[in-house]
Amino acid sequence: MPTPLNILVVDDDPTTLQLLHESLAGEGHAVTTSTSGEEALKLGHEQAFDVVISDIKMGLGVSGLDVLKSFRQINPQADVILMTAFGSMETAIEAVKAGAYDYISKPFRLEEILLMLERLVERQRLQSENINLRHQLEERFSLSSIVGRSPQMVEVFKKIGYVADSRSTVLITGESGTGKELVAKAIHYNSGRASKKFLAINCGALTESLLESELFGHVRGAFTGAMTNKKGIFEAAEGGTVFLDEVSEMSTALQVKLLRVLDEQEVRPVGGSNSIHFDVRIIAASNKDLQETVEQGKFRHDLLYRLNVINIHLPPLRERRDDIPLLIGHFLKKFSQPSSSPLTLADDALDVLTHYSWPGNVRELENTIESSVALTRTGVITAKELPARLREQPSTAPTENIFSDMPSLDELERRYLLRALEAAGNNKSRAAEILGVNRKTLYRMAERYGIKI
Ligand SMILES: Nc1ncnc2c1ncn2[C@@H]1O[C@H](COP(=O)(O)OP(=O)(O)OP(=O)(O)O)[C@@H](O)[C@H]1O
Ligand SMILES: [Mg+2]
Repeated sequence: MPTPLNILVVDDDPTTLQLLHESLAGEGHAVTTSTSGEEALKLGHEQAFDVVISDIKMGLGVSGLDVLKSFRQINPQADVILMTAFGSMETAIEAVKAGAYDYISKPFRLEEILLMLERLVERQRLQSENINLRHQLEERFSLSSIVGRSPQMVEVFKKIGYVADSRSTVLITGESGTGKELVAKAIHYNSGRASKKFLAINCGALTESLLESELFGHVRGAFTGAMTNKKGIFEAAEGGTVFLDEVSEMSTALQVKLLRVLDEQEVRPVGGSNSIHFDVRIIAASNKDLQETVEQGKFRHDLLYRLNVINIHLPPLRERRDDIPLLIGHFLKKFSQPSSSPLTLADDALDVLTHYSWPGNVRELENTIESSVALTRTGVITAKELPARLREQPSTAPTENIFSDMPSLDELERRYLLRALEAAGNNKSRAAEILGVNRKTLYRMAERYGIKI
Protein backbone atom coordinates (compact mmCIF):
# COMPACT_ATOMS: atom_id res chain seq x y z
CA MET A 1 0.00 0.00 0.00
CA PRO A 2 1.58 3.33 -1.04
CA THR A 3 1.79 6.21 1.45
CA PRO A 4 -1.55 8.05 1.21
CA LEU A 5 -1.17 11.56 -0.11
CA ASN A 6 -3.51 14.53 -0.05
CA ILE A 7 -3.74 15.32 -3.75
CA LEU A 8 -5.37 18.20 -5.57
CA VAL A 9 -6.10 17.61 -9.26
CA VAL A 10 -6.85 20.63 -11.44
CA ASP A 11 -8.07 20.37 -15.02
CA ASP A 12 -10.82 22.00 -17.06
CA ASP A 13 -11.36 18.73 -18.87
CA PRO A 14 -13.87 16.69 -16.82
CA THR A 15 -12.82 13.37 -18.36
CA THR A 16 -9.19 13.68 -17.24
CA LEU A 17 -10.36 14.91 -13.88
CA GLN A 18 -12.64 11.95 -13.33
CA LEU A 19 -10.10 9.44 -14.55
CA LEU A 20 -7.40 10.75 -12.22
CA HIS A 21 -9.82 11.02 -9.33
CA GLU A 22 -10.92 7.43 -9.62
CA SER A 23 -7.52 5.90 -10.11
CA LEU A 24 -5.69 7.93 -7.46
CA ALA A 25 -8.47 7.40 -4.92
CA GLY A 26 -8.31 3.71 -5.85
CA GLU A 27 -4.65 3.78 -4.75
CA GLY A 28 -5.74 5.05 -1.34
CA HIS A 29 -4.96 8.74 -1.82
CA ALA A 30 -7.24 11.54 -0.67
CA VAL A 31 -8.21 13.33 -3.87
CA THR A 32 -9.77 16.77 -4.29
CA THR A 33 -10.65 17.98 -7.77
CA SER A 34 -11.05 21.41 -9.24
CA THR A 35 -12.09 22.52 -12.70
CA SER A 36 -10.32 25.88 -12.68
CA GLY A 37 -7.14 27.55 -11.51
CA GLU A 38 -9.13 30.11 -9.53
CA GLU A 39 -10.89 27.41 -7.54
CA ALA A 40 -7.59 25.59 -7.00
CA LEU A 41 -6.05 28.68 -5.43
CA LYS A 42 -9.02 29.03 -3.12
CA LEU A 43 -8.63 25.41 -2.05
CA GLY A 44 -4.90 26.00 -1.55
CA HIS A 45 -5.66 28.71 0.97
CA GLU A 46 -7.91 26.37 2.92
CA GLN A 47 -5.99 23.10 2.95
CA ALA A 48 -2.46 21.73 2.94
CA PHE A 49 -1.89 19.43 -0.02
CA ASP A 50 1.08 17.11 -0.50
CA VAL A 51 0.77 17.14 -4.27
CA VAL A 52 -0.95 19.28 -6.86
CA ILE A 53 -1.44 17.81 -10.32
CA SER A 54 -2.53 20.56 -12.65
CA ASP A 55 -3.14 20.96 -16.33
CA ILE A 56 -0.96 23.72 -17.69
CA LYS A 57 -3.53 25.28 -20.07
CA MET A 58 -6.98 25.93 -18.74
CA GLY A 59 -9.14 28.34 -20.72
CA LEU A 60 -8.45 32.01 -20.22
CA GLY A 61 -8.07 32.49 -16.48
CA VAL A 62 -5.43 31.24 -14.09
CA SER A 63 -3.04 28.85 -15.87
CA GLY A 64 -1.21 25.83 -14.49
CA LEU A 65 1.96 27.91 -14.26
CA ASP A 66 0.08 30.51 -12.18
CA VAL A 67 -1.20 27.72 -9.93
CA LEU A 68 2.37 26.52 -9.55
CA LYS A 69 3.72 29.95 -8.68
CA SER A 70 0.95 30.68 -6.19
CA PHE A 71 1.28 27.32 -4.49
CA ARG A 72 4.97 28.01 -3.90
CA GLN A 73 3.70 30.83 -1.68
CA ILE A 74 0.51 29.52 -0.13
CA ASN A 75 1.28 25.79 0.10
CA PRO A 76 5.07 25.57 -0.13
CA GLN A 77 5.26 21.96 1.07
CA ALA A 78 3.19 20.81 -1.93
CA ASP A 79 4.97 19.34 -4.92
CA VAL A 80 3.41 20.40 -8.19
CA ILE A 81 3.18 18.17 -11.25
CA LEU A 82 2.05 19.86 -14.44
CA MET A 83 0.28 18.15 -17.30
CA THR A 84 1.31 19.51 -20.65
CA ALA A 85 0.05 18.97 -24.14
CA PHE A 86 2.19 16.58 -26.13
CA GLY A 87 5.21 18.22 -27.68
CA SER A 88 5.27 21.47 -25.70
CA MET A 89 8.77 20.96 -24.41
CA GLU A 90 9.38 24.67 -23.95
CA THR A 91 6.52 25.08 -21.48
CA ALA A 92 7.60 21.90 -19.73
CA ILE A 93 11.08 23.21 -19.16
CA GLU A 94 9.68 26.52 -18.05
CA ALA A 95 7.50 24.62 -15.58
CA VAL A 96 10.43 22.80 -14.04
CA LYS A 97 12.41 26.01 -13.87
CA ALA A 98 9.53 27.69 -12.05
CA GLY A 99 9.73 24.98 -9.42
CA ALA A 100 7.46 22.20 -10.63
CA TYR A 101 8.42 18.82 -9.28
CA ASP A 102 7.91 17.25 -12.68
CA TYR A 103 5.64 17.36 -15.71
CA ILE A 104 3.85 14.76 -17.70
CA SER A 105 2.73 14.95 -21.31
CA LYS A 106 -0.84 14.19 -22.25
CA PRO A 107 -1.91 11.58 -23.06
CA PHE A 108 -0.14 9.56 -20.39
CA ARG A 109 -0.48 6.12 -18.98
CA LEU A 110 -1.70 5.85 -15.43
CA GLU A 111 1.39 3.94 -14.38
CA GLU A 112 3.54 6.90 -15.35
CA ILE A 113 1.83 9.16 -12.87
CA LEU A 114 1.79 6.49 -10.16
CA LEU A 115 5.52 5.97 -10.60
CA MET A 116 6.06 9.70 -10.39
CA LEU A 117 4.12 9.81 -7.14
CA GLU A 118 6.17 6.95 -5.72
CA ARG A 119 9.39 8.83 -6.42
CA LEU A 120 7.92 11.97 -4.96
CA VAL A 121 6.94 10.19 -1.74
CA GLU A 122 10.48 8.86 -1.45
CA ARG A 123 11.89 12.34 -1.94
CA GLN A 124 9.51 13.92 0.56
CA ARG A 125 10.39 11.19 3.05
CA LEU A 126 14.11 11.82 2.62
CA GLN A 127 13.64 15.54 2.95
CA SER A 128 11.63 15.33 6.15
CA GLU A 129 13.98 12.71 7.55
CA ASN A 130 16.84 15.04 6.80
CA ILE A 131 15.05 17.99 8.39
CA ASN A 132 14.14 15.97 11.49
CA LEU A 133 17.65 14.69 11.93
CA ARG A 134 19.09 18.12 11.48
CA HIS A 135 16.64 19.49 14.03
CA GLN A 136 17.50 16.81 16.55
CA LEU A 137 21.19 17.43 16.17
CA GLU A 138 20.85 21.19 16.08
CA GLU A 139 18.88 21.21 19.27
CA ARG A 140 21.89 19.84 21.05
CA PHE A 141 24.59 21.76 19.26
CA SER A 142 24.53 23.86 16.18
CA LEU A 143 25.47 21.56 13.36
CA SER A 144 24.55 24.01 10.70
CA SER A 145 28.22 24.15 9.81
CA ILE A 146 27.95 20.73 8.16
CA VAL A 147 26.18 21.30 4.91
CA GLY A 148 24.72 18.52 2.82
CA ARG A 149 21.49 17.05 1.61
CA SER A 150 22.67 14.25 -0.66
CA PRO A 151 21.51 10.79 0.39
CA GLN A 152 25.13 10.01 1.35
CA MET A 153 25.33 13.00 3.69
CA VAL A 154 21.93 12.18 5.16
CA GLU A 155 23.43 8.79 6.05
CA VAL A 156 26.39 10.55 7.66
CA PHE A 157 24.07 12.78 9.73
CA LYS A 158 22.18 9.70 10.85
CA LYS A 159 25.35 7.94 11.91
CA ILE A 160 26.54 10.97 13.84
CA GLY A 161 23.22 10.88 15.67
CA TYR A 162 23.48 7.18 16.40
CA VAL A 163 27.08 7.09 17.58
CA ALA A 164 27.33 10.38 19.44
CA ASP A 165 26.27 9.02 22.79
CA SER A 166 28.06 5.71 22.65
CA ARG A 167 31.62 5.31 23.78
CA SER A 168 32.59 3.32 20.70
CA THR A 169 35.64 4.26 18.75
CA VAL A 170 34.86 5.78 15.37
CA LEU A 171 37.03 5.68 12.30
CA ILE A 172 36.28 8.41 9.80
CA THR A 173 37.56 7.76 6.31
CA GLY A 174 37.46 9.83 3.16
CA GLU A 175 39.69 11.74 0.79
CA SER A 176 41.44 14.88 1.89
CA GLY A 177 39.10 17.82 2.35
CA THR A 178 35.86 15.82 2.62
CA GLY A 179 35.10 17.06 6.13
CA LYS A 180 36.51 14.38 8.43
CA GLU A 181 37.53 16.77 11.17
CA LEU A 182 34.20 18.55 10.95
CA VAL A 183 32.39 15.26 11.49
CA ALA A 184 34.68 14.34 14.40
CA LYS A 185 33.79 17.63 16.10
CA ALA A 186 30.11 17.11 15.38
CA ILE A 187 30.26 13.74 17.13
CA HIS A 188 31.98 15.26 20.14
CA TYR A 189 29.69 18.27 20.46
CA ASN A 190 26.61 16.11 20.13
CA SER A 191 27.78 13.67 22.80
CA GLY A 192 27.54 13.78 26.55
CA ARG A 193 31.20 14.82 26.46
CA ALA A 194 30.46 18.14 24.80
CA SER A 195 31.34 20.19 27.87
CA LYS A 196 34.75 18.49 28.09
CA LYS A 197 37.67 18.92 25.71
CA PHE A 198 38.00 17.90 22.09
CA LEU A 199 41.74 17.52 21.46
CA ALA A 200 43.15 16.72 18.04
CA ILE A 201 46.57 15.42 17.13
CA ASN A 202 47.95 15.05 13.64
CA CYS A 203 49.94 11.83 13.63
CA GLY A 204 51.50 12.66 10.28
CA ALA A 205 52.92 16.03 11.27
CA LEU A 206 55.23 15.12 14.16
CA THR A 207 58.45 13.16 14.50
CA GLU A 208 58.11 9.82 16.21
CA SER A 209 59.53 10.89 19.58
CA LEU A 210 57.54 14.11 19.66
CA LEU A 211 54.36 12.25 18.75
CA GLU A 212 55.02 9.73 21.49
CA SER A 213 55.33 12.38 24.15
CA GLU A 214 52.31 14.31 22.82
CA LEU A 215 50.23 11.13 22.95
CA PHE A 216 51.38 9.64 26.23
CA GLY A 217 53.09 12.53 28.01
CA HIS A 218 56.49 12.45 29.68
CA VAL A 219 58.02 13.00 33.07
CA ARG A 220 60.63 15.58 33.87
CA GLY A 221 64.07 14.42 32.79
CA ALA A 222 62.77 11.62 30.57
CA PHE A 223 64.96 12.93 27.77
CA THR A 224 67.14 15.94 27.08
CA GLY A 225 64.90 18.97 27.04
CA ALA A 226 62.16 17.43 29.17
CA MET A 227 62.27 20.18 31.77
CA THR A 228 58.85 19.52 33.26
CA ASN A 229 56.22 16.83 33.47
CA LYS A 230 53.91 16.94 30.51
CA LYS A 231 50.46 15.41 30.26
CA GLY A 232 49.72 13.32 27.20
CA ILE A 233 46.66 13.98 25.11
CA PHE A 234 44.61 11.17 26.66
CA GLU A 235 45.11 12.57 30.13
CA ALA A 236 44.62 16.16 29.03
CA ALA A 237 41.31 15.37 27.33
CA GLU A 238 39.96 13.51 30.38
CA GLY A 239 36.22 13.04 30.01
CA GLY A 240 36.30 14.38 26.45
CA THR A 241 37.32 13.22 22.98
CA VAL A 242 40.72 12.60 21.38
CA PHE A 243 40.89 12.92 17.61
CA LEU A 244 43.77 10.95 16.08
CA ASP A 245 44.12 12.50 12.65
CA GLU A 246 46.05 10.80 9.83
CA VAL A 247 46.41 7.77 12.03
CA SER A 248 47.94 5.71 9.24
CA GLU A 249 51.11 7.82 9.41
CA MET A 250 52.13 6.47 12.80
CA SER A 251 55.19 4.22 13.00
CA THR A 252 54.52 0.55 13.69
CA ALA A 253 56.36 0.80 17.01
CA LEU A 254 54.01 3.55 18.17
CA GLN A 255 51.04 1.63 16.83
CA VAL A 256 51.86 -1.21 19.22
CA LYS A 257 52.03 1.21 22.14
CA LEU A 258 48.83 2.95 21.14
CA LEU A 259 46.96 -0.33 20.90
CA ARG A 260 48.03 -1.28 24.41
CA VAL A 261 47.01 2.12 25.77
CA LEU A 262 43.60 1.89 24.13
CA ASP A 263 42.98 -1.64 25.33
CA GLU A 264 43.96 -0.90 28.91
CA GLN A 265 42.62 2.64 29.05
CA GLU A 266 45.76 3.46 30.91
CA VAL A 267 48.70 5.48 29.84
CA ARG A 268 52.25 5.57 31.17
CA PRO A 269 54.12 8.79 30.39
CA VAL A 270 57.53 8.43 28.76
CA GLY A 271 60.11 7.93 31.51
CA GLY A 272 57.43 7.47 34.14
CA SER A 273 56.71 4.42 36.21
CA ASN A 274 53.04 4.85 37.05
CA SER A 275 50.12 4.20 34.75
CA ILE A 276 47.29 6.68 34.74
CA HIS A 277 43.74 5.64 33.99
CA PHE A 278 41.83 7.81 31.53
CA ASP A 279 38.32 8.05 30.16
CA VAL A 280 38.19 9.50 26.66
CA ARG A 281 36.35 8.78 23.48
CA ILE A 282 38.63 8.02 20.54
CA ILE A 283 37.91 9.16 17.01
CA ALA A 284 40.49 8.40 14.34
CA ALA A 285 40.66 9.59 10.76
CA SER A 286 42.52 8.62 7.65
CA ASN A 287 42.45 9.60 4.03
CA LYS A 288 44.12 6.33 3.08
CA ASP A 289 42.45 3.01 2.58
CA LEU A 290 43.59 1.43 5.85
CA GLN A 291 42.81 -2.09 4.71
CA GLU A 292 45.31 -1.53 1.95
CA THR A 293 47.95 -0.17 4.34
CA VAL A 294 47.40 -3.28 6.47
CA GLU A 295 48.00 -5.44 3.43
CA GLN A 296 51.16 -3.49 2.69
CA GLY A 297 52.36 -4.21 6.22
CA LYS A 298 52.36 -0.52 7.17
CA PHE A 299 49.44 -0.61 9.55
CA ARG A 300 48.68 -3.15 12.22
CA HIS A 301 45.62 -5.22 11.62
CA ASP A 302 44.74 -5.38 15.33
CA LEU A 303 44.91 -1.59 15.66
CA LEU A 304 42.66 -1.13 12.64
CA TYR A 305 40.23 -3.57 14.17
CA ARG A 306 40.36 -1.65 17.46
CA LEU A 307 39.78 1.76 15.81
CA ASN A 308 37.25 0.70 13.21
CA VAL A 309 34.43 -0.22 15.58
CA ILE A 310 32.19 2.20 13.72
CA ASN A 311 33.13 3.52 10.31
CA ILE A 312 31.87 6.77 8.88
CA HIS A 313 32.88 7.21 5.28
CA LEU A 314 32.73 10.60 3.63
CA PRO A 315 32.32 10.20 -0.12
CA PRO A 316 34.31 12.53 -2.37
CA LEU A 317 32.43 15.64 -3.46
CA ARG A 318 32.31 14.50 -7.11
CA GLU A 319 30.10 11.61 -5.98
CA ARG A 320 27.58 13.85 -4.22
CA ARG A 321 27.17 16.76 -6.56
CA ASP A 322 23.74 17.52 -5.11
CA ASP A 323 25.62 19.09 -2.22
CA ILE A 324 27.61 21.51 -4.38
CA PRO A 325 24.97 24.28 -4.77
CA LEU A 326 24.21 24.12 -1.05
CA LEU A 327 27.89 24.33 -0.14
CA ILE A 328 28.38 27.24 -2.51
CA GLY A 329 25.56 29.12 -0.78
CA HIS A 330 27.08 28.32 2.60
CA PHE A 331 30.53 29.58 1.64
CA LEU A 332 29.20 32.67 -0.15
CA LYS A 333 27.49 33.63 3.07
CA LYS A 334 30.57 32.80 5.08
CA PHE A 335 32.91 34.96 3.01
CA SER A 336 30.61 37.88 2.20
CA GLN A 337 31.03 41.07 4.16
CA PRO A 338 28.17 41.23 6.63
CA SER A 339 27.53 44.84 5.66
CA SER A 340 27.25 44.32 1.91
CA SER A 341 24.38 42.61 0.12
CA PRO A 342 24.86 38.88 -0.41
CA LEU A 343 26.92 37.83 -3.39
CA THR A 344 25.37 35.74 -6.12
CA LEU A 345 26.63 33.37 -8.73
CA ALA A 346 26.01 33.69 -12.46
CA ASP A 347 24.62 30.63 -14.27
CA ASP A 348 27.88 30.02 -16.14
CA ALA A 349 29.84 29.94 -12.89
CA LEU A 350 27.38 27.54 -11.27
CA ASP A 351 27.69 25.34 -14.30
CA VAL A 352 31.49 25.21 -14.04
CA LEU A 353 31.38 24.59 -10.29
CA THR A 354 28.88 21.75 -10.49
CA HIS A 355 30.76 19.97 -13.26
CA TYR A 356 34.31 20.17 -11.97
CA SER A 357 35.75 17.02 -10.39
CA TRP A 358 36.96 18.62 -7.11
CA PRO A 359 40.01 16.50 -6.33
CA GLY A 360 40.53 18.63 -3.20
CA ASN A 361 36.86 18.13 -2.25
CA VAL A 362 35.03 20.60 -0.01
CA ARG A 363 38.22 22.35 1.05
CA GLU A 364 39.02 23.14 -2.58
CA LEU A 365 35.47 24.40 -3.15
CA GLU A 366 35.71 26.55 -0.03
CA ASN A 367 39.02 28.07 -1.15
CA THR A 368 37.66 28.65 -4.64
CA ILE A 369 34.64 30.55 -3.33
CA GLU A 370 36.81 32.54 -0.95
CA SER A 371 39.14 33.69 -3.72
CA SER A 372 36.36 34.49 -6.17
CA VAL A 373 34.55 36.51 -3.52
CA ALA A 374 37.73 38.51 -3.12
CA LEU A 375 38.06 39.00 -6.89
CA THR A 376 34.56 40.04 -7.83
CA ARG A 377 33.84 43.72 -8.22
CA THR A 378 30.18 43.51 -9.15
CA GLY A 379 28.65 41.25 -6.50
CA VAL A 380 27.95 38.60 -9.12
CA ILE A 381 30.55 35.89 -9.57
CA THR A 382 30.87 34.81 -13.18
CA ALA A 383 32.87 31.97 -14.68
CA LYS A 384 35.63 34.50 -15.43
CA GLU A 385 36.33 34.97 -11.74
CA LEU A 386 36.90 31.25 -11.28
CA PRO A 387 40.36 29.70 -11.56
CA ALA A 388 41.06 28.51 -15.10
CA ARG A 389 41.79 24.93 -14.04
CA LEU A 390 38.13 24.44 -13.17
CA ARG A 391 37.12 24.91 -16.77
CA GLU A 392 39.84 22.81 -18.31
CA GLN A 393 39.32 19.55 -16.53
CA PRO A 394 36.81 16.96 -17.69
CA SER A 395 34.12 16.32 -15.10
CA THR A 396 35.00 12.72 -14.39
CA ALA A 397 38.26 10.89 -14.77
CA PRO A 398 37.84 8.21 -17.42
CA THR A 399 39.06 5.47 -15.13
CA GLU A 400 36.72 6.37 -12.31
CA ASN A 401 34.41 3.50 -11.65
CA ILE A 402 30.93 4.98 -11.35
CA PHE A 403 29.58 2.28 -9.11
CA SER A 404 32.55 1.34 -6.93
CA ASP A 405 31.04 3.09 -3.90
CA MET A 406 27.72 1.25 -4.28
CA PRO A 407 25.53 4.31 -4.98
CA SER A 408 21.73 4.20 -4.96
CA LEU A 409 20.04 3.43 -8.27
CA ASP A 410 19.07 7.09 -8.64
CA GLU A 411 22.62 8.25 -8.09
CA LEU A 412 23.91 5.60 -10.48
CA GLU A 413 21.44 6.76 -13.11
CA ARG A 414 22.61 10.35 -12.63
CA ARG A 415 26.26 9.39 -12.98
CA TYR A 416 25.62 7.21 -15.99
CA LEU A 417 23.70 10.05 -17.63
CA LEU A 418 26.68 12.36 -17.05
CA ARG A 419 29.03 9.74 -18.43
CA ALA A 420 26.89 9.22 -21.53
CA LEU A 421 26.70 12.97 -22.16
CA GLU A 422 30.43 13.21 -21.82
CA ALA A 423 31.04 10.28 -24.15
CA ALA A 424 28.66 11.85 -26.66
CA GLY A 425 30.47 15.19 -26.50
CA ASN A 426 27.20 16.65 -25.18
CA ASN A 427 25.38 15.66 -28.36
CA LYS A 428 21.87 14.98 -27.05
CA SER A 429 20.75 12.56 -29.75
CA ARG A 430 23.92 10.55 -29.42
CA ALA A 431 23.64 10.48 -25.62
CA ALA A 432 20.01 9.36 -25.86
CA GLU A 433 21.11 6.62 -28.23
CA ILE A 434 23.77 5.40 -25.81
CA LEU A 435 21.22 5.27 -23.02
CA GLY A 436 18.57 3.63 -25.21
CA VAL A 437 15.97 6.30 -24.49
CA ASN A 438 14.38 9.01 -26.60
CA ARG A 439 15.44 12.64 -26.40
CA LYS A 440 12.40 13.59 -24.39
CA THR A 441 13.30 11.09 -21.69
CA LEU A 442 16.86 12.34 -21.79
CA TYR A 443 15.68 15.89 -21.07
CA ARG A 444 13.48 14.69 -18.28
CA MET A 445 16.29 12.74 -16.70
CA ALA A 446 18.58 15.75 -16.95
CA GLU A 447 15.98 18.02 -15.39
CA ARG A 448 15.34 15.57 -12.61
CA TYR A 449 18.99 15.45 -11.69
CA GLY A 450 19.57 19.14 -12.16
CA ILE A 451 21.98 18.58 -15.03
CA LYS A 452 22.09 21.33 -17.62
CA ILE A 453 22.22 20.02 -21.17
N1 LIG B 1 29.85 19.28 4.61
C1 LIG B 1 30.54 20.41 4.83
N2 LIG B 1 29.91 21.56 5.07
C2 LIG B 1 30.58 22.71 5.29
N3 LIG B 1 31.91 22.80 5.29
C3 LIG B 1 32.62 21.69 5.05
C4 LIG B 1 31.98 20.44 4.82
N4 LIG B 1 32.93 19.50 4.62
C5 LIG B 1 34.10 20.14 4.73
N5 LIG B 1 33.94 21.44 5.00
C6 LIG B 1 35.00 22.46 5.16
O1 LIG B 1 36.06 22.07 4.33
C7 LIG B 1 37.31 22.21 4.97
C8 LIG B 1 37.99 20.86 5.08
O2 LIG B 1 37.29 20.03 6.01
P1 LIG B 1 38.06 19.10 7.04
O3 LIG B 1 39.28 19.77 7.57
O4 LIG B 1 37.08 18.59 8.02
O5 LIG B 1 38.48 17.95 6.02
P2 LIG B 1 39.37 16.66 6.25
O6 LIG B 1 38.61 15.53 5.66
O7 LIG B 1 39.74 16.56 7.68
O8 LIG B 1 40.64 16.94 5.34
P3 LIG B 1 42.16 16.38 5.47
O9 LIG B 1 42.11 14.92 5.18
O10 LIG B 1 42.88 17.14 4.42
O11 LIG B 1 42.58 16.72 6.86
C9 LIG B 1 37.00 22.82 6.33
O12 LIG B 1 37.17 24.21 6.25
C10 LIG B 1 35.56 22.46 6.57
O13 LIG B 1 34.94 23.41 7.38
MG1 LIG C 1 41.61 16.75 8.53
